Amino acid sequence: MDFDIADPSLAADGALRIEWARSRMPVLDSIRERFERDKPLAGIRIGACLHVTAETANLMTTLRAGGAEVALCASNPLSTQDDVAAALVADGVAVYAVRAEDADSYYRHIRTVLEAAPHITMDDGADLVTTLLKERPDLHPIGSTEETTTGVIRLRAMAADGVLRFPVVAVNDSATKHLFDNHHGTGQSSLDGILRATNLLFAGKTVVVIGYGHCGSGVAARASGLGARVVVVEVDPVRALSAAMEGFTVTTMANAARLGDVFITVTGNLHVIRGEHFDAMRDGAILANAGHFDVEIDLEALAARSTGKRRLRHELDEWKLQDGRRVLVVAEGRLVNLGAAEGHPAEVMDMSFANQALAAEWLVRDGKSLAPGVHRLPEHLDGEVAAIALKRLGGGLDLLTDEQARYLGSWEMGT
Ligand SMILES: NC(=O)c1ccc[n+]([C@@H]2O[C@H](COP(=O)([O-])OP(=O)(O)OC[C@H]3O[C@@H](n4cnc5c(N)ncnc54)[C@H](O)[C@@H]3O)[C@@H](O)[C@H]2O)c1
Repeated sequence: MDFDIADPSLAADGALRIEWARSRMPVLDSIRERFERDKPLAGIRIGACLHVTAETANLMTTLRAGGAEVALCASNPLSTQDDVAAALVADGVAVYAVRAEDADSYYRHIRTVLEAAPHITMDDGADLVTTLLKERPDLHPIGSTEETTTGVIRLRAMAADGVLRFPVVAVNDSATKHLFDNHHGTGQSSLDGILRATNLLFAGKTVVVIGYGHCGSGVAARASGLGARVVVVEVDPVRALSAAMEGFTVTTMANAARLGDVFITVTGNLHVIRGEHFDAMRDGAILANAGHFDVEIDLEALAARSTGKRRLRHELDEWKLQDGRRVLVVAEGRLVNLGAAEGHPAEVMDMSFANQALAAEWLVRDGKSLAPGVHRLPEHLDGEVAAIALKRLGGGLDLLTDEQARYLGSWEMGT
């Protein structure tokens, strides 16, 4: 088996963290049991480009339990947990990922995963599929799966341009993914990353959340729960209204730039914090990004205004502006929850990765009959995933009486 990781001697530490995560992933475990029995992925090669975390390790071993051969590379240069990579390699999984690798190494690893000619590719951000479509016309996978909002947006753009030549399952579109992972996962873990990097007290601070979508609404709720005054910046009127009715101040970025102690971007968009905003910020403003790519904070414009930067703490850089003010950037403007903390808690990744495993199974079973383009997983699977997760939380699920089911299915019984 081939691999490229930072340090194989970290395997024992990684194995313990993978075990801990697994103990909090009952939905994926129930799929693993079935996969072990039925081997629905027998003979299938899967190439995965995902954050190399303890939770991803459990997805990889679940896919392998189903009979698949798996190769894994990172979906972000800063999100790899080197001990997890080492533990996976010790367990016989091919991994090509090193935390803080440069762009050359990142794309070399993606190309290495494609060399195995995967039947199924798994993406978080669509870098694997993009590289495949641009560079490997000889490869014809059954299909692919996509984990995140930004990846789904890129894939829909590929489909609109007519270049997507196989089906892709948008795992992000499953209710048991985006309503929980994006909202609760990003909400908690983004603040976790900022807190680990800064040890800041949120109570009493003004926290500006830019983008009030599935992720941003979670970030805003958690910041508010810690006692922050939350200011929201949005471009979509419905989402802006929703933030206003939650009680948050909604304003323009030009205005918010002057108000914030902490800024968190989570839009999936380019340069939402840029030159004119740095010019207006208070001394000591803290900036973090929770959106997929490191494009939301315009670091080039920040560098152009700065006399230099120094690393103050783990994943915290202080930039000195020409007029003497300081701006602090967490995790180099990359995904703050993965760069400065451990990513989402296992409980939410349990549901996201249950959907990934089910998507792989669906592609093997029905992929040949799916048209090229972006597809949603069948909706009944959301109910199955949610029911197991609810049971883990000790929640009981009520049932409709026969009379109620008849009432809901009838148009005659108005009164
Ligand atoms: N950190 C993580 O672990 C994690 C997890 C899931 C998703 N993501 C990423 O987070 C990003 C957001 O995902 P989402 O599911 O919340 O998407 P979403 O579409 O639900 O929300 C994005 C919001 O940003 C707003 N927006 C776009 N441009 C803007 C601008 N210039 N100014 C202000 N608001 C703007 C949009 O109107 C939208 O409401 C994506 O890049 C996604 O891939 C990160």
